[in-house]
Amino acid sequence: MIEHSWWWPVALVNDPMEQPQALQLLGERLVLWQASSGQRSLLTDRCPHRGARLSMGQVRGDALQCPYHGWRFGSNGQCVAIPAQPGFTPPVSSSACRHHLMEAHGLIWAALAEPAHPVPDLAALPARRLIYGPFDVATSAPRAVENFLDTAHFAFVHEGWLGDAEHPEVPGYEVGHTQDGAWVDYRYEVLSPYSALLTKQGEDPAMAQDSYVIWACPQSPGSCRLWFAQYTTDTETADDVLRDFQLAIFAQDQPILESQEPKTLPLSGGEAMSAADRLSAAYRRYLKACGIGFGVS
Ligand code: FES
Ligand SMILES: [Fe+2]
Repeated sequence: MIEHSWWWPVALVNDPMEQPQALQLLGERLVLWQASSGQRSLLTDRCPHRGARLSMGQVRGDALQCPYHGWRFGSNGQCVAIPAQPGFTPPVSSSACRHHLMEAHGLIWAALAEPAHPVPDLAALPARRLIYGPFDVATSAPRAVENFLDTAHFAFVHEGWLGDAEHPEVPGYEVGHTQDGAWVDYRYEVLSPYSALLTKQGEDPAMAQDSYVIWACPQSPGSCRLWFAQYTTDTETADDVLRDFQLAIFAQDQPILESQEPKTLPLSGGEAMSAADRLSAAYRRYLKACGIGFGVS
């Protein structure tokens, strides 16, 4: 599966890690846990012994202990102890399946095969960063990203917040390509198949520059976990004021997103397009060009 060679966000770096966390990525059940040494590890959430869920087990020192017969696994997935057979050295075939893990942008990222694409570079963004989420949404990751790129809904879904019902028109805009095959218009940039960046810069350069990123974790073809990151030059407004605004906006989006049928994003027609949807059309072409097959139809 081509999606296995991309990094996907799965948790916040600051999430509590005392207990193993059950996660879902690209339809796979995973367990994220932290050894007492501080090392984090991501394993398939299935014990190689009898298939019990390792996320129901417990961390014992530098090992994760299965809840069923107590087999213990190290951070690299290797089985280090079988309590029913003391003194026995477990063979490699008793290992749990281990996955790639890294940290970037305040998030923990996972890849299910050898990663072939770097995590997007955000070095040019303002230093103040706030991360909102996770939001678990009953729609596909690309539906959520397409909504982030869509301005024609502002006057209806965010009336009085981001849009004005008296002015629903979307001004003409250009859609172009960047060197790495993604595309950008004057405000939006797709960073990877399931992430995008919006930069708002007021006409007055003295005004704050606000950049927003949507990070979507594709959990299943019809569900995703989202985080929104805000990077801003605004050093005055309190964190909770910025947070409350973004939470209110997403509370308006979520019921609409979850109402869309099908939950997968149609890449082969079947949905009507208007000229105001050129960004959506370009996003769909980009997903096709990447060979994305998960969460699309
Ligand atoms: S199923 Fe995990 S130790 Fe038996
Ligand atoms: Fe919205």
